[in-house]
Amino acid sequence: MRPTLISLTFGACAAGLIAACTPEEMPEASDGRGLFIANCAVCHGADAKGDGPMARAMESAPSDLTLIALRNGGTFPAVKVLSTIDGYTKSSISGPNMPEFGALLDGDLVPLDTGDGVLTPTPRKLVALLEYIESVQATR
Ligand code: HEC
Repeated sequence: MRPTLISLTFGACAAGLIAACTPEEMPEASDGRGLFIANCAVCHGADAKGDGPMARAMESAPSDLTLIALRNGGTFPAVKVLSTIDGYTKSSISGPNMPEFGALLDGDLVPLDTGDGVLTPTPRKLVALLEYIESVQATR
């Protein structure tokens, strides 16, 4: 089925999805789910609502990650969420209780547009997690 695969990839490129023109596929929410269950669910819960098994034992409760967009006026703050996860910058929401996950920076880089039209090479696992968290945002 090689010809089909090529035309699919080409079709995505032609449709203007710049990221789809890279040799490898961009990660999707479904790719991030496994990473989330493995690294984050213990605190944030399997459904990302902040009720993981470790949550009760913690001094400051892990955030309900499905409410990030709502708390930000309905817009998902991708850059802020990225920096919280990877610990690149210490924002006010990234306190001592939220561990950094340097290992998520391992692996290849994919071009990510966080909303400003600039494609920034970003670790694939981080982008997968970001997609997953964005996919579970409550709308109201
Ligand atoms: C050891 C428990 C723990 C684990 C594991 C954990 N977190 Fe957190 N997380 C927290 C806590 C607690 C907070 C609240 C802020 C603080 O006190 O640092 C938080 C906050 C956050 C926020 C900010 C939410 C907001 O309100 O804007 C994001 C995003 C986040 N975590 C993502 C993740 C992701 C993704 C993972 C897995 C890679 C993860 N967390 C793993 C405890 C944890």
